[in-house]
Amino acid sequence: MAEKTLNVTGICGSLRKGSYNRMLLNLLPGYAPAGMKISEAPPWAEFPLYNADVQNASGFPPPVQKLADAVRAADGVIFVSPEYNYSIPGGLKNAIDWVSRLPNQPFANKPVALLSAAAGILGGGRMQYDLRRCMIFLDALTMNKPEIFIGAAPQKFDDKTGQLKDEQAVGFIKQQLAAFAKFIEQHGGKS
Ligand SMILES: Cc1cc2nc3c(=O)[nH]c(=O)nc-3n(C[C@H](O)[C@H](O)[C@H](O)COP(=O)(O)O)c2cc1C
Repeated sequence: MAEKTLNVTGICGSLRKGSYNRMLLNLLPGYAPAGMKISEAPPWAEFPLYNADVQNASGFPPPVQKLADAVRAADGVIFVSPEYNYSIPGGLKNAIDWVSRLPNQPFANKPVALLSAAAGILGGGRMQYDLRRCMIFLDALTMNKPEIFIGAAPQKFDDKTGQLKDEQAVGFIKQQLAAFAKFIEQHGGKS
């Protein structure tokens, strides 16, 4: 019998046109193991700033619903994000805050994997631990290891082709995605 395809949705933490994290997200389908399909989640760029009054007066904006539906429908979620001032970029945090207020909260019991690329040598590690903390509150199932931090990103990506030039990093990412497929099979499907 054919194995089920694992549908994974990827959320990028950067809006920048030349974003290294977006380059990385774009590369992930090519690094994924057989049976894992990775596609980008609906965008959060048009989300208003979270305000409970807006939510109470007019409900959840359609782009919030769209992202939440994609998270709910996915077998797993991958965040690929830079670090801003040692933490989660404000736009991404705002997106998570909106999605987290929906009934039947979409991240609950959802397998999650994290990757980051940053200019600093720690590669966004401090952002990842803050993001892990948010995911704890939301009852997501965040995979512990392997961790992927791409430091000195401007030196590791080819701005023209969008390729990741660091072969060792590519190898680690493939290992992480293979581990994530197993993690989803072991822990997913509970929401
Ligand atoms: C507001 C802001 C804060 C930043 N803070 C950090 C930081 O804390 N650590 C770090 O390594 N790089 C930091 N950077 C540099 C980013 O890592 C770098 O701009 C990176 O390319 C952003 O990711 P992107 O290419 O996906 O947009 C910061 C950049 C911005 C714009």
